[in-house]
Amino acid sequence: MAKLVIEGKHKLSGAVNIHGAKNSALPVLAATLLAKGTSEIHNCPMLSDVAASVRILRHLGCNVTRSGDCVTVDSLGLNRSDIPDTLMREMRSSIVFLGAIAARTGEAHMSFPGGCELGTRPIDLHLSALRQLGMEILEEGGRLECSVKGRLRGTTIALAFPSVGATENIILASVTAEGTTSILNAAREPEIVDLCNYLNKCGARISGAGESAITIEGVDSLYGCSHSVIPDRIETVTYMAAAAITGSTLTLKNVNTGHIATVLPVFREAGCTIASSGGELKISAPNRLNRIHTIRTMPYPGFPTDAQAPVMAMMSVADGTSVFIENIFESRYKHAGELIRLGAKIKIEGRVAIVEGVKRLYGSEVVSTDLRGGAALVIAGLAAEGITEVTQIHHIDRGYEKIEENLRGIGAVIKRVD
Ligand code: EPZ
Repeated sequence: MAKLVIEGKHKLSGAVNIHGAKNSALPVLAATLLAKGTSEIHNCPMLSDVAASVRILRHLGCNVTRSGDCVTVDSLGLNRSDIPDTLMREMRSSIVFLGAIAARTGEAHMSFPGGCELGTRPIDLHLSALRQLGMEILEEGGRLECSVKGRLRGTTIALAFPSVGATENIILASVTAEGTTSILNAAREPEIVDLCNYLNKCGARISGAGESAITIEGVDSLYGCSHSVIPDRIETVTYMAAAAITGSTLTLKNVNTGHIATVLPVFREAGCTIASSGGELKISAPNRLNRIHTIRTMPYPGFPTDAQAPVMAMMSVADGTSVFIENIFESRYKHAGELIRLGAKIKIEGRVAIVEGVKRLYGSEVVSTDLRGGAALVIAGLAAEGITEVTQIHHIDRGYEKIEENLRGIGAVIKRVD
């Protein structure tokens, strides 16, 4: 199995390009199923999750090609409505294909996505909403057998929680439904706005994206279009944390600072100075970070849960004690145990993590527990004395394009060893 080997204590400098957002590319690729014709999706990151989405589209009969950062999807040849178990297991967020496949073909067949390192990852909000749109869903033997008699029918859906995936599935199922659908308590993430921008370019009639009330007027059909995916706000925060923990000055390019507005104050409280103009962000970090009193993860526009692990890594060497409260996922502190192996002092009490900053971390062998937890270990390794080896890095490759090349390009001593 591949691992990342990092020699810590090197300052970073220079500039790094931020890639397109994984969590936007995935629903947009699912949405291409609804557009009869060809769509060009630009700024698509080279990630294993994107490759899995491409494999699903090809399995369904679409003609998909990739040239550089552009993925071209011709969905005219769509001739199936099932997702193989292997692909559902490989990427549990394949559930976002459910609404699109059923809306386009009148049926959808797939296994339950199952849990992951972050917890059980229920899909009750997805299924309840899709049933309200008229989809018949049989859940048996760990499988979802879905069918639509005639056409899905628009309705008003109030989400108990502003679930990103459920909001995306409702949008994908309702854009070509009969009548109007209103989503109340919708997720407001930038990735939702990006998905709706793509769909509106394809001829959909969606308003309110980015707000907690979204209205979708059903249309008869959608046509392909060209779209560029928004920058990845979590990758942005990850490289900011790399600069912060190494006391470096770094420039990040192709950034949308508006998408991380509630994260910037956290870095400033830690003692970093941040300047941004156009699509560039410049961060300068002190030799030692101040502790951050409290970080609460919240639905957008609150502090993103995906940024919790990278920021916890940088806080592990801050001056003082920081408190994290993880309000989104039931089990998103698995990286804490691995950070402790590097010398961090972290105490977990349910949803609360108490991080007592230490003067230094020491390199060791650590295991990536999930995508953002793995990134946190790399960040910690940049600051640890000696050599840190991070294994199970397939988790990291799901969400970070060429992470070791990008870090080497700004001065880190890191290599991938197969
Ligand atoms: C999306 O996951 C992202 N993934 C996650 O990013 C991100 O952490 C999450 O949104 C929150 O921002 C993608 O976009 C592919 P949710 P999603 O539905 O849609 C509960 C990463 O690191 N819930 O908003 O699965 C759920 O258990 C990944 O890039 C239900 O109870 O997140 C969780 O506690 C990790 N029932 C909370 O809601 C449901 O039917 C938030 O889940 C659905 C969700």
